[in-house]
Amino acid sequence: MKKHIVFFEAVGGSDKGRDGHRKDTVPMMDYLKKLGFSAEVVFFTDEILKDESKKNEIYEYVKKSADAYVSRVNPGNLKEEKLYFDVLRKLCADGVIGMPHPDAMIGYGAKDALTKLRNTELVPTDTLAYYDPAEAQRIGIKWEAGGEYDFKKNFPKTLAKGERVLKQNRGSTGEGIWRVQIKDPSKYAGVSELPLDAEIRCTEAVDNHVEERKLGEFMDFCEKYLKGDNGMLVDMTFLPRIKEGEIRILMLYKDPIYVVHKKPAEGADAFSATLFSGAKYRYDKPEQWSELVGYFLNNLPEIKSKLGNYDLPLIWTADFILDTDVNGKDKYVLGEINCSCVGFTSPAEFLDKTARKVANTIINIVEDTKS
Ligand SMILES: Nc1ncnc2c1ncn2[C@@H]1O[C@H](COP(=O)(O)OP(=O)(O)OP(=O)(O)O)[C@@H](O)[C@H]1O
Ligand SMILES: [Mg+2]
Repeated sequence: MKKHIVFFEAVGGSDKGRDGHRKDTVPMMDYLKKLGFSAEVVFFTDEILKDESKKNEIYEYVKKSADAYVSRVNPGNLKEEKLYFDVLRKLCADGVIGMPHPDAMIGYGAKDALTKLRNTELVPTDTLAYYDPAEAQRIGIKWEAGGEYDFKKNFPKTLAKGERVLKQNRGSTGEGIWRVQIKDPSKYAGVSELPLDAEIRCTEAVDNHVEERKLGEFMDFCEKYLKGDNGMLVDMTFLPRIKEGEIRILMLYKDPIYVVHKKPAEGADAFSATLFSGAKYRYDKPEQWSELVGYFLNNLPEIKSKLGNYDLPLIWTADFILDTDVNGKDKYVLGEINCSCVGFTSPAEFLDKTARKVANTIINIVEDTKS
């Protein structure tokens, strides 16, 4: 054991404080040092990633000096994310503990984690993921015109059955997440596939703004979400009880540390739980949500195996929305998992305590793995 932990950060980006670091990085390192480990930040930039010798220098250095890395790079802060993931993948193959492994970040964090979990009790079975043929081929999925991954074929049918939410993969804070409803449902009662000229109302989660469109025109607009690597759209039933709030469990490896209750702004179309859109946040202890937390922890082994069997991410979140089951009882539905760079700077009073818990968890994982 080297008793040394490397934190990877990207240079720049709105998540940085005056010292150039994410505000939660230094507190974690300070606690590691108090506990007898050493820790340092190693920065990546797109220039470094494109420069073979600089990139290799970092790789060799971390391989030699660190027991583990903690990835604190926000998606979007590195354009060359693929090259960054390649470095992480090589380090993991060489025995450096990945917190998390890059493929765990992809597996847990991508929106199609929902379709991988749809045969569990966490996600409605009629949740679909759409890809374009090129992306399907890249990720090893067999795409057929008219098949289950074909957006244009399926969406007019799923929407005919009721309100939907379409989620793009790359968005954050609600960008490209659309609530879609038929403007005049009575006009299409009993129809199993909507015509392309059906009038729809589309609300974007980023700010709850509403656009009235024709179905065909809106689907053409959404094609852009399918383009390129990791392009996809997830099509999920709209859960009206989002009005009561989205409930986020903040996880430290396998333990819940706090729960955030996010209540969307008032208004008929408003459905977004993002701060920018006007949602109100409340921070609770996991014990205040014991039923949900217990349900989630019971499902963890299955989640892990369905998402590729990687070790759990170090800091991650699972978001839930209430639904009602066939017996009229409350049921929690999983809406999203985030794991590439979950921050814990707010609320400020939790920062220090959380940093201490993270440092302890890192050391436990290293000791368990390396002993
Ligand atoms: N099935 C659903 N029914 C009702 N509301 C939903 C549903 N899915 C998502 N929402 C609402 O839309 C918001 C944004 O969706 P989601 O969390 O999936 O994407 P995101 O927040 O853009 O992604 P990220 O959290 O990675 O930035 C949620 O916070 C929630 O308020
Ligand atoms: Mg979200």
